Amino acid sequence: MDQNELKRAVARAAIDHLTSGALVGVGSGSTVNLFIEELGRVRDRVAGAVSSSEASSQRLRAQGIEVLDLNEVLASGREIPVYVDGADEINPALQMIKGGGAALTREKIVAAACRRFVCIVDESKCVDVLGRYPLPVEVIPMARELVAARLRALGGQPKVRDGVVTDNGQLILDVAGLRIADAASMEAEINQWPGVVTVGLFARKGADVALVATPGGVEQRLP
Ligand code: A5P
Repeated sequence: MDQNELKRAVARAAIDHLTSGALVGVGSGSTVNLFIEELGRVRDRVAGAVSSSEASSQRLRAQGIEVLDLNEVLASGREIPVYVDGADEINPALQMIKGGGAALTREKIVAAACRRFVCIVDESKCVDVLGRYPLPVEVIPMARELVAARLRALGGQPKVRDGVVTDNGQLILDVAGLRIADAASMEAEINQWPGVVTVGLFARKGADVALVATPGGVEQRLP
């Protein structure tokens, strides 16, 4: 089974985790793109989607799925029971590094608005300790060097992601060389630095369940 087949298998498995007739929160990335295709096949089972990126919104609409505005959904008192998204790395506590697709801020917002986070990954994303994948940090351009200096002081090597402007008009610093033993503390620390929009650690609120595609089938893992 190649990686794309593994991604397809886990995207399909996520359909069983949806709440029938309800809204669904949808993340971003290549695994989620396959999930959106699978969602298109069962579009009558969902009431619509709240999306975490312009790219996912376009794909959802192309599948005939209505994309709703998060503020309007929450203001009307509606619930979003499930959020489905991929990850760049995930540890056994189901804490994640996300943001490889530069959508981390909206992903964190939509994930926080949904009751359950269902993470869909192939087994190459599973690690014991987060940090092999460079940690994305979304930063306001004026604060780039201030934040980069603080990331170096933590032992990381930050690098501006070339040619990338996020959906929110900001920059991404990719930070190599971090060994993230206490992901929740690091998330809290970096998040409160002036100029940081979002750090791509999803640790204080990780996934509620991970669906992991392996050559032997899709495994369900709990924190
Ligand atoms: C998007 O910003 C990311 O958080 C994605 O969820 C993550 O990069 C996983 O993407 P793939 O499914 O393409 O590996």
